[in-house]
Amino acid sequence: MKEKISLDADKRRWSPSPLVGQIVLITTLNEDGQSNIAPKSWISMMAFQPPLLALGCNLTHWTAQNILRDKEFVVNVPGEELVGQVWGMHAVAHARPVEAVGLTPVPAQKVRPPLVEECKAHLECVLVNHLAFGAEVIFFGEIVAGSVDREAFESTDPYEHLKMVVFLENGQFGVIEKSRRVEKPI
Ligand SMILES: Cc1cc2nc3c(=O)[nH]c(=O)nc-3n(C[C@H](O)[C@H](O)[C@H](O)COP(=O)(O)O)c2cc1C
Repeated sequence: MKEKISLDADKRRWSPSPLVGQIVLITTLNEDGQSNIAPKSWISMMAFQPPLLALGCNLTHWTAQNILRDKEFVVNVPGEELVGQVWGMHAVAHARPVEAVGLTPVPAQKVRPPLVEECKAHLECVLVNHLAFGAEVIFFGEIVAGSVDREAFESTDPYEHLKMVVFLENGQFGVIEKSRRVEKPI
């Protein structure tokens, strides 16, 4: 057997990290109706029917408070081009509407929080359940509408257009630059 090095259970000490989280920008609405934008990476699909995703968030974050109150949020998918802004934006003080980080809010189809125009894809979600663990909360959002850049459909490989990014560890990210087909399934 190959030699293995033990991994700490505390994710903050993972280097390298054995799990990746896709970097997304969550938009919600503050109590006064102004938008809020925040980067998150604890997110994944959870079920086909209903189409459910789960999002992990600190309970004190504006994103969490807004979702608990309004029960709506949008998952915006940035490409590699936005990575600098993604890492810089949580340092921008609240209130932090989409415009405050130099991005553009556009109306969503089915929910009140806006889409972020500069992102490549968007999933509009309605909160169906949540579980709190200490200072953190996991939201279960049902996807009620979605959209992807038309340009992605015009490329031979849509993933080359999307250039989606994943969180690896503090200050480090990975990029999905292209897709590959499984040649010989066994
Ligand atoms: C790349 C990246 C990924 C992040 N992922 C998460 C996450 O999954 N959950 C979380 O609670 N905070 C995450 N954070 C930290 C929040 O974005 C940050 O604390 C932010 O200020 C919270 O904003 P809010 O209070 O408007 O929600 C992440 C930050 C970065 C830069």
